[in-house]
Amino acid sequence: MDALKKKVLVARRAPAAVIERLAAHFEIDAVPDDRVLPPDELRARLQGKAGAYITGTERITAELLDACPDLRAVCTMSVGYNHIDLAACTARGVLVTNTPDVLTETTADFGFALLMATARRMSEGERLLRDGGWKSWAWDFLAGAEVHGTTLGILGMGRIGQAIARRGRFGFGMQVVYHNRSRLAADTEAELGARYLAKDELLRQADHLVLVLPYSAEAHHCIGAAEIALMKPTATLVNIARGGIVDEDALAAALRKRLIAAAGLDVFEGEPRVNPALLTLSNVVLTPHIASATLPTRQAMALLAADNLVAALTGAVPPTPLNPQVLSA
Ligand code: DGY
Repeated sequence: MDALKKKVLVARRAPAAVIERLAAHFEIDAVPDDRVLPPDELRARLQGKAGAYITGTERITAELLDACPDLRAVCTMSVGYNHIDLAACTARGVLVTNTPDVLTETTADFGFALLMATARRMSEGERLLRDGGWKSWAWDFLAGAEVHGTTLGILGMGRIGQAIARRGRFGFGMQVVYHNRSRLAADTEAELGARYLAKDELLRQADHLVLVLPYSAEAHHCIGAAEIALMKPTATLVNIARGGIVDEDALAAALRKRLIAAAGLDVFEGEPRVNPALLTLSNVVLTPHIASATLPTRQAMALLAADNLVAALTGAVPPTPLNPQVLSA
């Protein structure tokens, strides 16, 4: 063992190529079983570590940072970073990186697949078939909502939102409307054929609404009873962002009363626990946070997180830093 090598924690099971890459530079403490470390154990294992390779399941709080003064870099294998107190990291000079771009198209594919599955009642149809409920043909049997040519609403028009917009516009001839904290540049809007709307207007106009905004305190439950009440009774709601964006109790109540037609959810508040009210409904498609889950994409995310960690601790500029100001400080 090289006493001069910096120590890093690999908090979850990672591809062999990641371990190989990190091992060339660091002494690795890889958590042997693939479980989520409870906060106390995470804190204990981070003692003496200069870097942490984490995923969306490890929470990095100010309290944890104070207890781990050697920590200089936190590299998450995820584009979302709401599990990391970024301000606290920056204040303590801890560099944080995430894994944008490499998952954009894959995640957009899934968002669109979930929209299709939800609007066209695919899970409901499969459940019925497996349960022996397919008795014959009927003109309105499992009739769902039209997708092509309808209005696609996107809340959160970042990279993934734009990739979904392209699929809707160029693949399905949809009218694309969106709302975002900041409006896109005119040439990007023109390229996507996307029209900016105020949030309430977006909710009113969308036939299918896809949520792709980052989670933050202000985004918490930003889709609740009042927002759902603005939507069309025929509308589909798809969430591939973070569970906390939707008030799940309000959504379950709305789905039960058919205030909107259906929902497709890949993310949940408190996941992997799923709100029991959602589990009882037939007009919701539920998937276990897998929007970026293809092997090539997950490998690319993992290697990018490793590259970030190597750069962060060897004096190079990491490819995708979230608080680059730490580098210049
Ligand atoms: C991400 O990258 O943020 C995805 O949600 C997977 O965790």
